[in-house]
Amino acid sequence: VIEQKVDSVLSLMTLEEKIGQMNQYSANFAPTGEVADNQSGEYLKKGMIGSTFNAFGAENVRMLQEQNMKYSRLKIPMLFAADVIHGLETTFPIPLAEACSWDLDLMEQTARAAAEEATASGVAWNFAPMIDMSNDPRWGRVMEGAGEDVYLATLAARARVKGFQGISNYNDLSKGNTMIATAKHFVGYGAAQGGRDYHTTDISEHKLHETYFPPFKAVVEDGVGSFMTSFNDLNGVPATGNKYLFKDILRDAWGFNGLVVTDYTAIMELIPHGYAKDLKHAAQLSLDAGIDMDMISEAFVMHLKELVEEGSISENQIDVAVARILEMKFLLGLFEDPYRYCDVEREKQVIMNDEYVDLAHKAAQGSMVLLKNDNNVLPLKKDESKRVALIGPFINERESLNGEWAIKGDRDKSVTVKEGLDAKYAGSNVKFTYEKGTDLPLIDRSTEKVSDIEPSSRGFAKAIQTAKNSDVVLVAMGENYHWSGEAASRTDITLPGNQRELLKELKKTGKPIILVVFNGRPLDLSWEAENVDAIVEAWYPGLMAGHAVADIISGDYNPSAKLVMTFPRNVGQVPIFYNQKNTGRPFNDNAPADYRSNYIDVENTPLYSFGHGLSYTNFEYSNVVLNKSEFTKGGSIKASVEVTNTGKFDGEEIVQLYIQDIVASVTRPVKELKGFEKITLKKGESKVVEFTIDEETIEFIGLNNQPTVEAGDFNLWIGTSSDDESNHMKFSYK
Ligand code: IFM
Repeated sequence: VIEQKVDSVLSLMTLEEKIGQMNQYSANFAPTGEVADNQSGEYLKKGMIGSTFNAFGAENVRMLQEQNMKYSRLKIPMLFAADVIHGLETTFPIPLAEACSWDLDLMEQTARAAAEEATASGVAWNFAPMIDMSNDPRWGRVMEGAGEDVYLATLAARARVKGFQGISNYNDLSKGNTMIATAKHFVGYGAAQGGRDYHTTDISEHKLHETYFPPFKAVVEDGVGSFMTSFNDLNGVPATGNKYLFKDILRDAWGFNGLVVTDYTAIMELIPHGYAKDLKHAAQLSLDAGIDMDMISEAFVMHLKELVEEGSISENQIDVAVARILEMKFLLGLFEDPYRYCDVEREKQVIMNDEYVDLAHKAAQGSMVLLKNDNNVLPLKKDESKRVALIGPFINERESLNGEWAIKGDRDKSVTVKEGLDAKYAGSNVKFTYEKGTDLPLIDRSTEKVSDIEPSSRGFAKAIQTAKNSDVVLVAMGENYHWSGEAASRTDITLPGNQRELLKELKKTGKPIILVVFNGRPLDLSWEAENVDAIVEAWYPGLMAGHAVADIISGDYNPSAKLVMTFPRNVGQVPIFYNQKNTGRPFNDNAPADYRSNYIDVENTPLYSFGHGLSYTNFEYSNVVLNKSEFTKGGSIKASVEVTNTGKFDGEEIVQLYIQDIVASVTRPVKELKGFEKITLKKGESKVVEFTIDEETIEFIGLNNQPTVEAGDFNLWIGTSSDDESNHMKFSYK
């Protein structure tokens, strides 16, 4: 039925009108209700804008849609999009943080809440989730992903798409509270050379199939509605003009029928890439590659007509793209009611309602990773008498707590660490004294460089004195939120500015130090790990930041998150990730030998491994059992383990299953995550966790780039982290 409707509209459209549908702008053409006197305004007047992004608010979007409807001869509604990456107004933790919860339901719920808010605010197309694989913490956009492991990241991608789209498949987007999700950026963006944003990538076809494709393929199978191209040059062909990616793989091999939009000005960028000689050439290359919509470049709107007229492209190519765009508009119900996402009453009820605020609180608690806790310095119990020095630029920081891409999250509303602690310990015998000590260095956005104005150390003396007068020092430090996200690559991933210097001075006081870190990427915390007593990795927790920190500090919430990206000992180890290859000369820390694959100046092991994260309680693993030691085609093995909470707190544990295929026709990593379960255990309680190992578990991408299963022997570990080798078993597949 939709197909017929699409065809009937298409048959009435002029070539210009069709091309107009393929043209997308940022919402600056009618900022005050009148059509702006600029290029985009001109196109709007001709009914030649198919979609716009960055317009929010039921009333505002209605006004823009009215403008469009006034000028569109065939009354074709405009499609409003936005980057709703981790919440609209209710800001949830950044995706990397949330992934550390390993809680797929939570990821789906926060995506659902974000979609409820966005669709009440006029927006029905989301430029999320970002499902780029990356193992490079220098790259600022790791904050938007789900970490280094393809198994976990694929599950996270599926959960988020399901949350945004309400159901997985985009064929049912008619409810009014569901939005089209976008799998971005296709593909390889996270492999940017040197971690420098937008940089070139060189990825073997095997690696594409093994690591970079799977999250994208999985969400196509689930029915994601749209794809966004990536900025990078992939193996010599920029993604936005890459036929292999969009035709051979996405459309032909995977059968994707949804909508492909470029990234911002990405068609135009084919020129500096050295792939297109001018904008007209770029338009042709990207249309030929299978791109449907041009974000910002104006390449389509300026050149497609001419290209059709001269016979370089066919009108049918345009029809195919426009049909996909119209289909989305029909599916979203925009043809029936162009204003269906502009209900002011619904907007009032939905935005930041109590349920979502509670969800933001829960998500923030579940995302923070306790990296270290010597001598149980944490939690700081409310019923004990203590003087606590609160030091560091993040104690009173509000603006950065939402992190980057908090698209409409009001930065004035986030709860600071100080506010959270003051509320938590009100009336207790824990007394706080605050001294900032130093500032966060900033980025000058006009030059995109770290500001020349160095934070001064003038505040150190007071901070040191405050520490001396206390029993314990709680320090909150990190990166200003502009230091991660797009165009925020770093070569030095230590705490910026003079924060480490301040910590060194505080260390000299001899007081126990608890460090809470706020950041969007794994940092080099090697000095800190050696010298402070406890570290809480808080990431950018969003709206309820301070409350969640206070819950963890006080023990009202027992930390349960585990890292999804390895923390290196220094930036020189990057890329470092748990599922590395063994090499022909593996280095064994227990029996070191010369001429091995190692550094001479630092260990091979990371500072904190993938899967690492502590709790205030202890979990003991016992009775690791395989129900048999081998299986054959169509069969399976059950692996089980008993986990007991032997500590003093109720808690949650993420039980992880890793395997290693010892010999294969394509060498396999030293271990690969193949399953996990998050369990809740009361003090003294035990649970048996069971995993099934079958052909899917041992499958890998063969030399022919196809899923392959081979007979052989396998190592298996079930444990608390990727570096936990205490429960080792072996099995075979015959
Ligand atoms: O969706 C984003 C993309 O991830 C990066 N460039 C800008 C786009 C639109 O905001």
